[in-house]
Parts: sequence; C-alpha cells; structure tokens
Amino acid sequence: GYDAVVFMNEGQPGREEPFEGSLNRPFTIPAVGVSFADGAAIWQQVQAGQTVTARVVTSTDNTPRPSTNILADSPGGDPNKVVVVGAHLDSVQDGEGINDNGSGTATILEIAEQIKALKIKPRQKLRFAFWGAEESGLIGSEHYVSTLPDAQLAKIYANLNFDMLGSPNYVRFVYDGDGSDTGTVGPAGSEQIEAIFNNYFAGQGLETDPTAFDGRSDYGPFIAVGIPAGGLFSGAEGIKTPEQAAVYGGTAGVAYDPCYHQECDDINNLSTKALAELGDGAAHAVLTLAMTKTGFFP
Ligand code: PHE
Ligand code: ZN
Ligand code: ZN
Ligand code: ZN
Repeated sequence: GYDAVVFMNEGQPGREEPFEGSLNRPFTIPAVGVSFADGAAIWQQVQAGQTVTARVVTSTDNTPRPSTNILADSPGGDPNKVVVVGAHLDSVQDGEGINDNGSGTATILEIAEQIKALKIKPRQKLRFAFWGAEESGLIGSEHYVSTLPDAQLAKIYANLNFDMLGSPNYVRFVYDGDGSDTGTVGPAGSEQIEAIFNNYFAGQGLETDPTAFDGRSDYGPFIAVGIPAGGLFSGAEGIKTPEQAAVYGGTAGVAYDPCYHQECDDINNLSTKALAELGDGAAHAVLTLAMTKTGFFP
C-alpha cells in the first residue's frame, strides 16, 4: 500500500492538494526551493523516520522561478554503479498534478521508505531523483545530466523513470527500450530493463503494451548520453483503442487520462488499481537493478 503524502502546487491559492494513495501515515518530502545542498540529507531524514515537507513552487505569472532537483543517495551500495530512480516533482500550472506526477513521485518515495523498512542493503547504489521543471522541457533532469562531471556520469549504471502511473483509463505501458515495437531504440541495456518490467508483469498474469522511447520525460537526457533506461507509464492524452479496452478494461475512444494537464488532475483523477500494479512493477525493477549480483550491464 501507499504511504506517502506529496503536496503538489503548494503555494498556489486553492490548489494545494495532498496526494494520498492508500496511505496509513503521512510522509512528505522537502520543499522545492529550500536548498538541499547535501543530497544525503533527505535520505538521512527518511532513515530517521522523520517527516519532511514538500512544496512544488511554480510560477503563476510567467515570471522565471527557481526550481530544484532533490537527490537522495542510499548510504550503501557500490558507488561505481549508481541506479538513478527518477520522477518529476513539478506539475503544469493548470492543475494539482496528482496523476502527473504525484503518482510517480509518491511511488519512488514509497519504494525508498520500504527499502528502509525492510532493511534492504542495495548492492548497487540507489539515487532517488525528484526532478524539478520537467514540464518546462525536462529542465531539471537535463541540468543534472549536463552539469554532472563525466567521472560521475560514468558511474551511472541505469536510469528508471516513473511519470504518470495512475491514469484513470490506464494501460500498462513499458518504455520500448529495444525499439522492436515503436522504432526508437535506447542505449544498450535498455532492452534488458524493458524485459525486467515485461517479465515481472507476465509473471503476475498482467499484459503490457510498449510505448515510444522517444525522450518525452526525464529519462531523455540519460539516453541521450548513452545511459540505459526504462520505465512505466499509464497513458496521457492518447486514446484507448478497442483492443486495449478488451485487455485492460476502461473505455475505448477515451483518453488514458482525460484530465491530462488540466485542472481536474486532482485527487479524484487516479486509478488506485493502476497505481498499485505499476507501483509494484516499479519496486520490482528498482530492487532488481539494485540487488543483481553480477549486474546487468558491463
Ligand atoms: N512527460 C509527459 C508529461 O509530464 C508525460 C509522458 C510520460 C508522456 C511518458 C509520454 C511518456 O506531461
Ligand atoms: Zn505533464
Ligand atoms: Zn509528467
Ligand atoms: Zn520493446
């Protein structure tokens, strides 16, 4: 179950809205705009079981605003093999951004909390990344990748990205890292990440569909520099086909998320079933990449 409360768009009058999956205790993340010079700070707070507060500060008047990435490294794990697990923390200004992307943010936060609760010691180092300013053009993730020293970039083993996991009219989309279905091929290793997700869902008796690996979210800057990546997506403005409705239920001829980038992307705009299924898939992939002994990639 979900255990996170993420306040999206706090500071916009009338638009503060808690994201609450099926939570059993509140947990919020640090304020964007509050400086976390030491990325380990959030992780230490998580480890200490402390409640920290999240704010997404966005501009309502088209004036420039600062934005912040929040990065939290696991204390252990091989520092030469870093798995970056990312989700964007901002939303568009038209709504609260609960599915886009409270869903992905809460998912990776919950994974971090469960790793702590279960006392899992990752073999590879995990770096949880809460990206700022994705909606303005992948600004946060692009800044991170383009400013990280090459020696640090070379230590990034893989990137997982979770952007929109609870679409009301959902499909279990897996980024098509091998390009076999949608044509865009990712860096070597991306096909293995795609297979981790597909094999997991197959084992659960759940079908998946491939979705274009075209860089339309924060994994884009990573694959642009050759880092293998993958992730899940429950659908945005695209229209559900009759074939998909036959497999997944929901409504053919209607958008996967009819409230995509709209004011109605609020706490009611979630399939908690989608979130539970895709969230479990996300946790499986994080743990697989974190724990595999020999490693997937050279
Ligand atoms: N990045 C898009 C957004 O935030 C959503 C998206 C995710 C689209 C993954 C395609 C694939 O609006
Ligand atoms: Zn969006
Ligand atoms: Zn998004
Ligand atoms: Zn594929």
